[in-house]
Amino acid sequence: MNALTPAAAAANRRTFAIISHPDAGKTTLTEKLLLLGGAIHLAGEVKAKGERRRARSDWMKIEQERGISVTTSVMTFERQGITYNLLDTPGHEDFSEDTYRTLTAVDSAVMVIDAARGIETQTLKLFEVCRLRDIPITTFVNKMDREARDPFEIMDEVAETLALDVTPLSWPIGMGREFLGCYDLVRDRLILMKKDGGGEIIDVTGLDDPALEKHLPAERVEALRDEAGLAKEACPPFDMESYRAGHLTPVFFGSALRNFGVAELLQGIGDNAPPPRTQSTDKREIAPGEDKVTGFVFKVQANMDPKHRDRIAFMRICSGRFNRGMKMNHIRSGKQMAIHNPILFFAEDRELADEAWPGDIIGVPNHGTLRVGDTLSESEDIRFTGIPNFAPEILRRVRLDDPMKSKHLGRALISLAEEGVTQVFKRTMGGDWIVGVVGQLQLDVLVTRVEQEYGVKISLEPAPFQTARWVYADDKATLDKLIKANTTAMAEDGDGQPVFLARNSWELNYQQEQNPKVQFSATKERA
Ligand code: G4P
Repeated sequence: MNALTPAAAAANRRTFAIISHPDAGKTTLTEKLLLLGGAIHLAGEVKAKGERRRARSDWMKIEQERGISVTTSVMTFERQGITYNLLDTPGHEDFSEDTYRTLTAVDSAVMVIDAARGIETQTLKLFEVCRLRDIPITTFVNKMDREARDPFEIMDEVAETLALDVTPLSWPIGMGREFLGCYDLVRDRLILMKKDGGGEIIDVTGLDDPALEKHLPAERVEALRDEAGLAKEACPPFDMESYRAGHLTPVFFGSALRNFGVAELLQGIGDNAPPPRTQSTDKREIAPGEDKVTGFVFKVQANMDPKHRDRIAFMRICSGRFNRGMKMNHIRSGKQMAIHNPILFFAEDRELADEAWPGDIIGVPNHGTLRVGDTLSESEDIRFTGIPNFAPEILRRVRLDDPMKSKHLGRALISLAEEGVTQVFKRTMGGDWIVGVVGQLQLDVLVTRVEQEYGVKISLEPAPFQTARWVYADDKATLDKLIKANTTAMAEDGDGQPVFLARNSWELNYQQEQNPKVQFSATKERA
């Protein structure tokens, strides 16, 4: 008998994502976190956990055979009694709405910034999504082993660009070739970088401890005392409430490549980051400690092989203790689903999940039943909210090769939009279809799937619009006025909701000013 309760299991879980701009070091940091958690091993090292593995999931084989890649979507590891679920936010060319939506399934995030470059565009975009949900952010200033910007300058940039309070929890000693390590401002320790990576820890009594001189050159000690002293004075002290409300970010400095500062970062997440949060539904708030199991789907990974319709839906457990084989209500369809082969994800392995707890992510293999935004619930008829669609950043007009297939096209586009692959808008005037995505790769997936699964050949051409906003107003007349005055810019999304298509941000701002009673929304709750 398992005595663990959902509340106790939740208290020891940290579900988080890393947000960063390509090349800041997310992959390197992830690898070092997994190493720390024993989830991956250096070449030659014995896999200690190998023997303990339970039933291996077949999914890994299916993945390889059929070209579905879920390899790094979720990585679970344990350290010092805490289970960490690290969710991947796909970066580079695979940047997509999934990248944003993953952030709806986490309780906190780590923002990795390159010490020489500061805040970059993609980090900023991802940060905005975190802000929508007040997700607390821990900052890791990476690549201190290279020529970096002054730490104060970096912290100012974070504070000003993101409008956050900034509190350093470690302070770097030198940078580039002269980077010697960090001073741990929480536990008053000197952490010196070892040649072969990692850090050597020396306990001290404070910044004025004469022992510092034994370990560091005199000019370094002086600089450390000045800078760290100033940082302590100038920055607000760490405040848990403010951090958890998303107003303050604790900052760590380090070098992922040299495996330096990573253990302190993880400790910081373990100590401060919130456990699984209470989640909103259309009826009431669901606390993780509740007995009945609930969860929502935030991502669906489709098969690239058109012969198979295997999909894997990523479900975040929000409450209760999930057991394998359990029957859950699929709220959208009103049908029951028995989940026989739930998958837990490890860096190099998949396992059948015998049980899962609030904050955990399980993979549910299915044939297209589960969609992004779906709720699964053991008993109550509730729907989780807050898993929105995000305004697309790339819009394309769809060109149909064979005009006889226009009905098929509509069906295909709407169905793929429901699945969360792309968004679709039908223009009020002319009726042409516009598709919207946040990442280029989604467009390629769309063209391939429309052809392979629906037998319709399409091409995409530039659309005269840059972005879309869902428009809402309290009374119909206000909305009608906007629609009438802008017929060429209006469209409907797959659910029939009115959407304003903007040629540029200037036009969007102008319309907002002209129509103060209309809400132009960059997100839409999924139907
Ligand atoms: P990403 O996932 O955020 O895109 O970044 P990734 O970890 O792939 O790192 C991008 C580049 O930055 C890599 O170099 C990586 O080795 C380097 N890097 C990451 N962390 C650090 C660090 O702390 N210090 C230094 N000096 N470099 C770091 P690359 O040359 O592009 O790739 P590779 O050939 O080393 O794999």
